[in-house]
Amino acid sequence: MTAVPMIRLAGVSKTYRLRRGLFGPSQELRAVHDLSLEVARGETLGLVGESGCGKSTAVSIMLGLLAPDAGRVEIAGQALDAMAERDRVRLIQPVFQNPNAALNPVKRIRSLIAQPLKLHGGSEIDREVARAMEMVGLPARLAQAYPGELSGGQRQRVALARALVLKPAVLICDEPTSALDVSVQAQIINLLLGLRRELGLTMVFVSHNLAVVEHLADRVAVMYLGEKVEEATTDALFRAPRHPYTQALLAATLPPDPGRGLPELRLGKAAADPFALRGGCLFAPRCPVVEPICRSQPQDLRRVAEGAVRCQRAG
Ligand SMILES: Nc1ncnc2c1ncn2[C@@H]1O[C@H](COP(=O)(O)OP(=O)(O)OP(=O)(O)O)[C@@H](O)[C@H]1O
Ligand SMILES: [Mg+2]
Repeated sequence: MTAVPMIRLAGVSKTYRLRRGLFGPSQELRAVHDLSLEVARGETLGLVGESGCGKSTAVSIMLGLLAPDAGRVEIAGQALDAMAERDRVRLIQPVFQNPNAALNPVKRIRSLIAQPLKLHGGSEIDREVARAMEMVGLPARLAQAYPGELSGGQRQRVALARALVLKPAVLICDEPTSALDVSVQAQIINLLLGLRRELGLTMVFVSHNLAVVEHLADRVAVMYLGEKVEEATTDALFRAPRHPYTQALLAATLPPDPGRGLPELRLGKAAADPFALRGGCLFAPRCPVVEPICRSQPQDLRRVAEGAVRCQRAG
């Protein structure tokens, strides 16, 4: 018997309806399409892909902040849409890119960290706040400070303390360090690594920074225009990416290192256009190894040794 995954998305889709221009016709934008993911207890899944590919939409659905149009989300084996908010927030918590947006500037740090406990019922609030501050490496004296008196890194630690104060099993990090300086980024990443080990957290980590994903994730899912195009163990994905998009993504970001054997692919200037979905493979218009059949035949996700890939021609 296999263990129940901590997070399970099955066939999740979300389409936004938009109006182009003031009087234009309404159009559909497929932000996430038929996405299935599983994250085991204690595992970290990296979610990557260029801007607009649906990463934040997917994590908002995991968090229960956005309802999918189709599909199922289960957290620890329970259907998310049937779960009381009170139970959900104790199971799964987010850490977002911009802590400033989440931190009310006129509230002291102590009360910001205490807020989830007050909202969702907690006892021994002072003790729990002190514990959370210590866990994220915030000096106790900052409890009386306001967010404006803190550095960016300290504010992200406050956001993390707020997420952890309810002792969730799952942490969903959406670009948690991209607003920070490189050296501060590294501190927060190391903090996350330590917390994961200490608390046995299950994590989903969204980032544009592939080096960080390689460092943190056990497994990586690559998205393109709302679809998962490849999934593999981190090691396999970075060592031998199969999908032409993954190959291009890695080639574009990592410094050339012949030892890694990364192919030198360039995607050209065309951008992914969510409004121009045609019949075939979604990546065909930009694919450097496209063949005529790719433009007419949709590509299914195919199981491979360490995961799955959505390209019939990939090795
Ligand atoms: N509330 C919304 N209304 C309409 N369209 C939206 C909304 N939120 C997202 N989108 C669109 O859905 C698609 C996916 O967006 P999403 O924010 O999930 O991408 P992302 O991968 O998180 O991008 P980024 O890396 O820039 O954060 C994009 O085309 C985006 O413009
Ligand atoms: Mg996003």
